[in-house]
Amino acid sequence: MLEKLQFYIDGQWVDPVEPRTLDVINPATEAVYGRISLGSAADVDKAAAAARRAFASFAQTTPAERIDLLQSILAEFKKRQDDVAEAIMNEMGAPWGLARGAQAMSGVQHIKAAIKALEGFSFEERLGTTTVVREPIGVCGLITPWNWPMNQVAVKVAPDAAGVPAGVFNLVNGDGPGVGTAMSGHPDIDMVSFTGSTRAGVLIAQNAAPTVKRVAQELGGKSANILVDDETFAKAVAAGAREMFDNTGQSCNAPSRMIVPRSRMKEAATIAAKVAEETKVGKLRDEGAEMGPLVSEAQWDKVQRLIQSGIDEGATLVAGGTGRPEGLDKGYFAQPTVFADVSNGMTIAREEIFGPVLSIIPYDDLDDAITIANDTPYGLSGFVSCADLDTAREIASRLRTGMVHINGAHLDSAAPFGGYKQSGNGREWGHHGIEEFLEMKSVYGYEQRKH
Ligand code: NAI
Ligand code: MG
Repeated sequence: MLEKLQFYIDGQWVDPVEPRTLDVINPATEAVYGRISLGSAADVDKAAAAARRAFASFAQTTPAERIDLLQSILAEFKKRQDDVAEAIMNEMGAPWGLARGAQAMSGVQHIKAAIKALEGFSFEERLGTTTVVREPIGVCGLITPWNWPMNQVAVKVAPDAAGVPAGVFNLVNGDGPGVGTAMSGHPDIDMVSFTGSTRAGVLIAQNAAPTVKRVAQELGGKSANILVDDETFAKAVAAGAREMFDNTGQSCNAPSRMIVPRSRMKEAATIAAKVAEETKVGKLRDEGAEMGPLVSEAQWDKVQRLIQSGIDEGATLVAGGTGRPEGLDKGYFAQPTVFADVSNGMTIAREEIFGPVLSIIPYDDLDDAITIANDTPYGLSGFVSCADLDTAREIASRLRTGMVHINGAHLDSAAPFGGYKQSGNGREWGHHGIEEFLEMKSVYGYEQRKH
C-alpha cells in the first residue's frame, strides 16, 4: 500500500499539524490503495507563510531563469511519468493506456507549452511615456480535482524535485471544509485558482470576497455537439459517442448533449448505441480496456440516480442503463449509456452527470439547434460537425462557450482553456494561462518627456 502521510512545505516533507488520515480507494477493486493525510487551516498557514517568504526573491527571477527551471522540472517529470501514470490508474480508475498516454502525458504537454509560451511572452508594454509592466500576483492557492489530476496540477503549477527554491511550491492535501476554505479565506493568499464543481467554485468565490482575492474558476459543463444534416453525420455520431465515454465521462468538457436533426434521430440512436455496446469496459490492466470505473462510490450513486431520472422522465434508453456492466461485480463500473429523444428540459440534459451518459436531443433547424445548445447555465465547450466550413464557423460564433471544436479538431495546449457563464472565470493553458497569474503595473514617466 502506498502511504504518503506528509505534506511538502518550505522545501521539505513535514508531518501535518494534526494527524487525520484518508484511505484512498482503488475504484476498480474497492480495496484501499493508499493512505494520505487530510490537512487543516494550521497547515495552510505554514504553507502560505513559506510561500510569502519565497515570493520576495522568486518574484525577481527572470523569464530565462524560469525557463531553465521549467526545463529541469520537465526532465525530472519525464523520469517519473510511469509512476505518475500508475498512481493515477490506481487512485481514479483510468485504464493503463489512458493513464499513461493521456493523463500522465498531459503533464509533459503542459510544461512544454508553458516553456514555449514564456519564451514568447512580453512582460512590458510601452504607451507613450508610460510603461505597463506585468508582475507575478503573489501567493497562489491552487485547488485541483481528481478527474484529470496531472493535467490540472500542470496547468496551475509545474514544480518538482528539480531545484525549485524552498517555499515556491508547497503541497497540503485535504478536503474542501478542512483545507479549501482555509485557502480561499486566507488573508495572505493573493489568488485562488480552482478546478472542480460549480457548487464548490461559488463557495470559494464567496469565501474569497472579503480578502478581495482574484479567483479563477474552471467549473462544470454540459457541452453541446451540433451535428448538421450532411455527409459528416454518421462519422460524427460515432466520434461524439466515443468522446463522451472517454475517461468514463469524467471530463468537464465532455460532449454530453448531442444535438441532431429530428429526421435523423433514429439513425443517431442506432450508431451511438452500437458504440456504447462495443466500448470495452474492464479491469485497468486489461489489454484494450477502454473504459474504467467511475472514481468513487459517491459518483457511482450520482450517475445511477441521473440515469434513473432519464428513464423516469421519458427519454428513450437505447444502450446501457442502471447497474454494473455484465461480468463486473466489483468496482464502481457503470454502463456506457445512450438516451435518445431527450428534451433539453430533462434533468439528464441540464445536470452535469460526470459519467458515461450521452443524451441525444432533436432540433428542427440550425437556429433551433443553437438555441438548444445555448440553453444551459454552462458555457464551457461546444462541438460542431458540418462539411461546409463557413456554416461551421458561423455556428461556432453563435455558441456562448469558451471553446468550440470544428469537425473533431483536438484541444490545443497553446490556446486558452476555460468557459463562459457558470463554467467559470479566467483561462488556463498557454500564454493566456500565464496572464491569469499576473498583475499589471502602470509606471508613468518611465520614459522622461523632453522639454
Ligand atoms: P468538488 O468540486 O466538491 O471537488 C473538487 C475539488 O474541490 C476537490 O479538491 C475538493 O477538495 C475541493 N473543494 C470542495 N469544496 C470546496 C470548498 N468549499 N472550498 C475549496 N475547495 C473545495 O467535486 P466532487 O465532489 O469531486 O465531484 C462532484 C461533481 O463536481 C462531479 O460530479 C462533477 O460534476 C463536478 N466536477 C467537475 C470537475 C471539472 O473538471 N470541472 C472536476 C471534478 C468534479
Ligand atoms: Mg463566467
